Formats: sequence, C-alpha cells, structure tokens
Amino acid sequence: MLPSSLLLTLLMLLPSISHAQTTSPKRGLTYLTPEHPNDDKALLSADSSLTWYYSYKSLPDAAVTGLEFVPMLWGDHDNTFVAEVTSQLPNVKYVLGFNEPDMSLDVGGTAISPERAAFLWKRDIQPLKGQVKLGAPAVSSAEWGMPWLKSFFDACDGCSFDFIPIHWYGNFEGLASHLGHYHVTFPDQKLWITELGYAHVDLQATEDFFNTTINYLDSLDYVERYSWFGAFRADVSNVGPNGAMLSADGELTNIGLWYLGLEGSGASSGAAAVLVKKMVLLGAMGFAVGWGILC
Ligand SMILES: *[C@@H]1O[C@H](CO)[C@@H](O)[C@H](O)[C@H]1NC(C)=O
Repeated sequence: MLPSSLLLTLLMLLPSISHAQTTSPKRGLTYLTPEHPNDDKALLSADSSLTWYYSYKSLPDAAVTGLEFVPMLWGDHDNTFVAEVTSQLPNVKYVLGFNEPDMSLDVGGTAISPERAAFLWKRDIQPLKGQVKLGAPAVSSAEWGMPWLKSFFDACDGCSFDFIPIHWYGNFEGLASHLGHYHVTFPDQKLWITELGYAHVDLQATEDFFNTTINYLDSLDYVERYSWFGAFRADVSNVGPNGAMLSADGELTNIGLWYLGLEGSGASSGAAAVLVKKMVLLGAMGFAVGWGILC
C-alpha cells in the first residue's frame, strides 16, 4: 500500500469529469473470440477510435480489421513465438509476455515460476528486442503479483523490458493506489493496463468507475495503453453483466459506446430482458399446446 499522503496527491491529479464523448489512442480491446460473429461488427465500427487489440494469442484473428494486433506469449509453449511474430513484421510493434503467470490455469493464469518464465523469456521473447517493444509478464493485482514480477526480473539476467502490463479489478481508489505503487517502484517503465474493470457491482457504480478511470488513465503520461474488460456480451461475462461492452443481444451498451468514443445511448445489458423473452416464448408455447389440445 502507498502512504496515504501520496495517494491523496495522486487523487488530486484527477481531472474533473467532462461529459463530452472522449476518445484516446491508448484504448484497445481485450479481444475474446466471440460466440457471435455479429459482435465484431459493433466493436469494430469504422467510427470507433480504438487503435489496438490483443487476444491472448500470438497470431491475429482474421475477423478483426483496422486495429493493430499485439501478440502474446500466453504460456509455456513450443519455441514458435519468435517465428510467429517475425512473420508479422512490420505490422507488429509490441508483444506481451505471459498472462497472469502468478495465477492458476483455471482462472486464466499461466501458473509458471519466475525462473521458468525467465528461461522462456530468454528463448522466446528477448530475441525480438529492437524489432518490437517487449512487455513484461502481466501479473495479477493479488498481493503476490509484484513479488512474482521482482523475482522474475532478478532471474531474467540480460533481459530487457520496454513496458509493464498490469491488471486491475476493483474500485477507483484501489486502482489509483495500485498504479501509483507500480509507478513508484518502476519509475522508468511505461504501464499498460491490459485487463481493467470493477467486477460484479451495479450499473451505476460500474459506469461511474468507468468514466472516472478512463479520464484518469488518459491523463497519465506513464500509462501508455489500456484495455477495458470487456469486449463480450453481458450474458457470458465472468465479471458481471454491467461491465460488458455488448448487451445479451450483441448491441453496444453505454460502456461500449463511451469506450469506442461514439454518441448515443446504449442498449441495456439485457440479461433480464433475455429471461423475459424466454418466459414469453415458453408461455406462448404453452398456450399453443393448450389450444391444440382443446381443438
Ligand atoms: C460518462 O461519460 C460519457 C461521455 O463519455 C457521458 O455521456 C455519460 O453521461 C457519463 N456517465 C456517467 C455516469 O458519468
């Protein structure tokens, strides 16, 4: 945790929130392969100001056009990453290291030791130095995340890092403190927030957090890029329906619209509406069956 005086200073740097639509070249998608191809269309609107995406993979999705792809070495793989990235030059400018190496596989982590990660880094990522910018492994925001990263930096002799991706799920004060902690510890590194959200809170709290956070991240020079979690439908979200950029029907929610920098009012998450539709359908089927028996 930060000394509270430093936290206060960080909070005072908060810009006042304007209600104009905001856009930022820092914004990207944490792109999850959708079950619904129509989702792509909403998220890849030509009017969107988004610039980049990653998908926890080394190769881009054919369906995604108009956004810079950032390859990730997700886990402990065969030695193919260098060749896969090299084949995408000069379109690729950045690569990402392991996703949540400090977390278990069942929550999307890669569960590797700092020593094993350092070995893989030297083999699969360091050779790309100079051709692309190298992002350190993205640890979780759990208390053991930064210690994992420090052990990894110690173990990875001769390695170099151009930026540090981090993750955050929680309230704004916690995010400001977390960012400040990383910035104070690694003052020469740019930060990317590659997973970001306030999980499982109501719509008002989610939207307030979204606006405050987006404005804050846009104002910080040491934050190079960020990606809101997430680019999926409300009914399949694992962080609660309110942070989703798409409704259960695949239309942009308020957060989806604001994130893309578009005007208008968004669809409600629709998780409740889907339930009502199913009940109406069941009712209609019951009526039809009943009518059939009577006649
Ligand atoms: C969030 O910001 C958008 C503009 O980007 C604005 O239209 C909206 O009213 C704001 N919502 C809240 C809850 O502050």
